[in-house]
Formats: sequence, C-alpha cells, structure tokens
Amino acid sequence: MKVRIERLSLVDFKCDLLAVNLFEGEKQPTGAIAAADKALKGLISRLIREGSIDGKLGKTTLIHCHAGLAADKLVVVGLGKKDKLDLEAIRTAASAVIKQAREVKARRVASIVHGSGCGCLPPAESAKAVIEGSVLGVYKFAGYAKEKEKPPFEVKELVLLDIDRAKIKPFAAGAKLGLIIAEAENHARDLVNEPSNKMTPGAFAELARRIARINGLKFTSLDPKAAGMAALQAVAKGSDQPPRLVALEYRGNPRSKEKIALVGKGITFDSGGISLKPSKNMDEMKSDMAGAAAVLGTMSLLSDLKPKKNVIGVIPLTENMPSGHATKPGDVVGSLAGYTIEVTNTDAEGRLILADAITYAKKRGATSIIDVATLTGGCITALGDAATGLIGNDQPLIDRIKKMGDHCGQKMWQLPLYDEYKEALKSSLADLKNTSGTGKASPSSGAAFLSKFVGATPWAHLDIAGTAFLEKGRGYLPEGATGVPVRTLIEFLVS
Ligand code: BES
Ligand code: ZN
Ligand code: ZN
Repeated sequence: MKVRIERLSLVDFKCDLLAVNLFEGEKQPTGAIAAADKALKGLISRLIREGSIDGKLGKTTLIHCHAGLAADKLVVVGLGKKDKLDLEAIRTAASAVIKQAREVKARRVASIVHGSGCGCLPPAESAKAVIEGSVLGVYKFAGYAKEKEKPPFEVKELVLLDIDRAKIKPFAAGAKLGLIIAEAENHARDLVNEPSNKMTPGAFAELARRIARINGLKFTSLDPKAAGMAALQAVAKGSDQPPRLVALEYRGNPRSKEKIALVGKGITFDSGGISLKPSKNMDEMKSDMAGAAAVLGTMSLLSDLKPKKNVIGVIPLTENMPSGHATKPGDVVGSLAGYTIEVTNTDAEGRLILADAITYAKKRGATSIIDVATLTGGCITALGDAATGLIGNDQPLIDRIKKMGDHCGQKMWQLPLYDEYKEALKSSLADLKNTSGTGKASPSSGAAFLSKFVGATPWAHLDIAGTAFLEKGRGYLPEGATGVPVRTLIEFLVS
C-alpha cells in the first residue's frame, strides 16, 4: 500500500472510498465535509438521528455515491468519545476504515487525519497513528494454500487529505515514520506466523544476516557449542536443527561507551523437551521466537531512523525438542557465565538460552539490557493478552519503557522481582535451578533466574507470552502474530 499526502478538499478528491469521522454523542457532523457539502451534512445528521451512525469507536457506516462528492463511496467511522480520543483510538478507527475499503474493493482510499481536525492531538502523531492503524490493519499472513480462489484484494493507495497548508509537512513526516515502523512490525508478524519447519534456527540466522547486510549492521553468527554457551547448547541438544546465536550491531554514537542490548528469545519451536507440553495448541509454539522476531524487526529500522545510540541485538536460536540426545529433568548443565544450572524442567528453556545471550551481550559491552521473550504461561494467567509483563532491576528504565508502551498502544504492566523468587531457585546440586518447582509466580521466577546473569547491569525483561500471538484478532491486531513490541522498542530508541 502506497501512502501519499495531498493538500486538497475532501469533496473534490477522486477516489474509490473517502473516510471521514464522527465522535460518539455528536448530533451532526462537523469539520471539512459538513462545511463543504450541505446536503451530505443533512444526510449524515439524519442517519445519526435514526441511530444508524453512532460514532462508537471503530464502527463504520458506508454511504454510496453522493452527488456532491468526487469520491465513489464515503465511509463514516466512529472515533468514540471525544474526551477519550488518543492515538490508540485513531489506530483502531483507521484499521476499521481500511478493512471496509478491502470489503468494498476500493483501490484508492482517501482519509482525513483523525484527531487533527479538532486539534486534539499533534498532526504528525495523528498522521503516524492513521498510517500505523491502516498498515497494521490490512496485514494478512500469505500462507501456503495452493487452492486459493483469487489473490486477496489489495488496497493500492492511501491518501491523507487536508486543505490546511501548515499540516502537510507534519503529516508527511508522521506518515513516513508510521509506514516504516508498521511495515517492520508486519515483517516481524510474518516471521512468527511462519511454520517452524520453515522458520528453523538456520533460516532465521540467514535472514538476520541478510537484514544486517542490507542495513550495514555488523553481523556475528556463532555456533553456541564452540562459543561455550552451554545453557543454550543444553536446550539445543535434543533437536536435529543446528542452533545459532546471532548478533547485529548498530553504532549511532561511536564516541559513547553506552550500548543498549536487545535480547530476543528465539525458540523456533517449543515442544517442552522431555518435560513435554500437552498436544492441545502445541502448534502455537512456533511463536516462541516472537521476541527474536521483534528484536530483528527493530534492528532493521535503525540505519533508516538513525538514533544517536549504540544498539546490539542478540538472538539465541534453537528448537526445544525431546529425543535420545535431549537434556533431561535433573541434569546439571553449565553456562557462558560459568554458573552451573540444575534443569528441573526442560520446558523452562527460554531462560536457559537467554542466560547465555545476556552474558554474551555483556561481553560485547552492553551497558543496559532489554530482553523480549514469550517466557511464561503464568504471564498469560496474570495479564491475558491485554498487556506485556514488565520486570527488571532498574525502575527508571522500567518507567520509560512502560510510558513508551502506553504511547504506542502496546500496554505493559510491571510485575515484581522480590528476593523470595531468587531464594526459591537455590539448588542443592548446582549454583541455581531453572524453576522453583512450585508452579507459582512463574513470570517473576523466570525473571529472577535471568537476574542472576544480568547482575548489576540496568535491565528490563518483557514477557510477551500473552501479547505476541492471539487466538482471535481485534482492531488492528490480527489473529496469530501481533508483532509486539516492535513499535515500543523503536520509540524507546529514537526518543
Ligand atoms: N514458551 C513457553 C511459555 C509460553 C506458554 C508462551 C504459552 C506462550 C504461550 C515457555 O518456554 C514455557 O513453557 N514456560 C513454562 C515455565 C514453567 C515450566 C516454569 C510455563 O510457563 O509453563
Ligand atoms: Zn518451554
Ligand atoms: Zn518457550
């Protein structure tokens, strides 16, 4: 989908579908369209009176061919209550419009920038949110069906319209940013939706190499066994797929010693290993590399956005499989940091591979660490799919990430890292065990395990188990992979 900004009146612009909006509770339309066309204003007012249009967030009403309009069809989208309007509401409204466009097979769509007419939100931010909602809203994983009736309909062009000259520049800047960020998030979705027989550790590593080359990032790909990553190797042992650890480095501020590490869990399939998972929904465990996909998606944008920061993306990649070679419950394994680990449950594999990835990031000079992982089912129990679990050892860092998440429509909720959780990981055989064995507070327990390897480095852990992959789509989020939290990480790095 192409995106364009035009300084033109809504009534004169020729397109297949024109989108305008309405707040909940408004008795008649206001803004450009109402001012430009009296008959149309009358028609929409009547539809409001009759109750066909109510302005509820994301609700759309289609109006066919109106004499006063150059557009073929008009869609009125609800923005919800005016005092509740935020960027997330704009994304939701924009995605409703683009879905309507797909339904009526509109190739060329024009829209006003929601939230900019009322002056409710800054024009660049509003335009960015419209494009994000639209690009994320039309996403669909291509899949492999050979018997598709026809290729799915594609909206070719989205044009943002306004006659106010002063808004054109901020619109263009916001839309450009929104487009590249949303496309990167869609790319992350694709990687996660890809079946695990295609998205193997090796395939992911090759893709990372390509992305690094295109973007001029320094690239490293290691064999974990040769590199002394015994914890990662302990997980990989049961699989026939060779594991990998890849790193992509962006240097936006070569004079600074600061380096932010983004570490993404890359389990391309999590069967649980010898602590085998139940078979129900096990197919969804192809999504256990969603953290890795988000880190790769974020790294792929840095050379375009050029933040003045040094960032290294570290991605440990392996399957977690049961076999005669697999690590067994009760085994004691090593780690890159030198700590010995009693593996009480082979399904708590994410923390094992992250432990070595975090140690590696520190060896590469990381001065702060953000890890992203589909780490625990317990996080889904606690927060559902509404928010990502956020845990760490540095409150200012946590606060900043939470704020960015709220701004980007990717909510985060902090969970504790109490000493009790660290205590519960004491082992009689090794330096620590990978689970407490109690089944309690697994998000915090998992983070407590990681904290041992993080040490004193400022660190935040994002548990995306609930938010990375949805059973059912909503708003601009599709069924399956969501791409969470690419937008938040990007915003965090560029702000
Ligand atoms: N990949 C899973 C967590 C997960 C579950 C992600 C459901 C997405 C949806 C992880 O490796 C895991 O199995 N964790 C265990 C930890 C437990 C053994 C302490 C869990 O949550 O049950
Ligand atoms: Zn697991
Ligand atoms: Zn896992």
